[in-house]
Amino acid sequence: MAAGEAHLARRLRPFGTTIFAAMSELATATGSVNLGQGFPDADGPVELREVAVAAIRAGANQYPPSAGVPELRRAVAAHQRAWYGLELDPGTEVLVTVGATEAIAASLLALCEPGDEVVMFEPSYDSYAACCAMAGAVPRLVRLRAPDWSFDPGELAAAVGPRTRLLLLNSPHNPTGKVFSADELGQVAALCVAHDLLAVTDEVYEHLVFEGPHVPLATLPGMRERTLTISSGGKTFSFTGWKVGWACGPAPLVAAVRAAKQFLTYTSPAPFQLAVAHGLGFAPEAMGRLAVELAAKRDLLCHGLAALGHTVYRPAATYFATTDIATVAPGLSAEEYCAALPERCGVVAIPSSVFYDPADPVAGRTLVRWAFCKSETVLRDALSRLASWEA
Ligand SMILES: Cc1ncc(COP(=O)(O)O)c(C=O)c1O
Repeated sequence: MAAGEAHLARRLRPFGTTIFAAMSELATATGSVNLGQGFPDADGPVELREVAVAAIRAGANQYPPSAGVPELRRAVAAHQRAWYGLELDPGTEVLVTVGATEAIAASLLALCEPGDEVVMFEPSYDSYAACCAMAGAVPRLVRLRAPDWSFDPGELAAAVGPRTRLLLLNSPHNPTGKVFSADELGQVAALCVAHDLLAVTDEVYEHLVFEGPHVPLATLPGMRERTLTISSGGKTFSFTGWKVGWACGPAPLVAAVRAAKQFLTYTSPAPFQLAVAHGLGFAPEAMGRLAVELAAKRDLLCHGLAALGHTVYRPAATYFATTDIATVAPGLSAEEYCAALPERCGVVAIPSSVFYDPADPVAGRTLVRWAFCKSETVLRDALSRLASWEA
């Protein structure tokens, strides 16, 4: 039994400590290069840090409004209009949250009755299953398959049943780096409309796209009125520690999520909200700078891992690449490989099996996720360390 499990409510027992925290601790303890947890090793724009500091000095230090400071709600609405042509009322259709993490949790808690089903793609970001468990909802998983992480439309249709409450979509997608195609988004939207489902979309990597545009599900016909769009300043501006996120969409959906949010955290840190509001006004060129840098890092890591014998699934977005280790570590599971890697090579990575249903021991068995939001020096160091791996 894992530490603390005796006290942990049964519904949360499968979730324990997240793999990211455990692997980051291991990286520190072994002096390894950490390509596990998805945080950049360089902070975002100085200009935004200065806005946060100035806000603290100017007195933005007491509870801001529960829905978020007006400046950020207006900035989110303006961003959605400028980038995607989506019109939102900042007063009723935007809610600021403590990172996208809280927006996801509050959405599932607010929108699902115990026993409701949530259709989502697998592999999936680990908080989705945990938040379903907290809400008493049941995930219905639809498999994304390598090499292009496409899904079987029949499998998607079959996942919808009488208890389906909503569909949870993550595009750009963690861990695969997939950007759902226009055709795939069309299939998802058609299904939601046909079955009158709500959609919750996690778009935290919306500005870290290397190939093709980012298309919010809410922009598809029939989706604006049924979609709650979630994003965050953490990934866009490289301030993952600020934890400023938001959910936006039709007023009744936002009001429901706000009802849950007020009893989770009530509000979100004021100075960081003001700084992120400032950032959302950046011109497209400044907004796209990080993606340009990341594309070069993706290529460096992906070429390097391919040269070491990995089967590489090159991502179209995000800061994660997935490889299959079957040829470099024959017979080992990704979990065994990632457990051995810090000692043997001084590198930490995440076994992708953690993004699959634990009841399925085969899914993702030899897949590993590598974060490349690190300096070129760090990535080259990691690759040279990995060269010492012997099967
Ligand atoms: C898909 C996805 N959603 C949400 C989050 C969490 O976002 P935040 O840090 O804004 O809570 C992450 C962080 O890694 C993520 O990958």
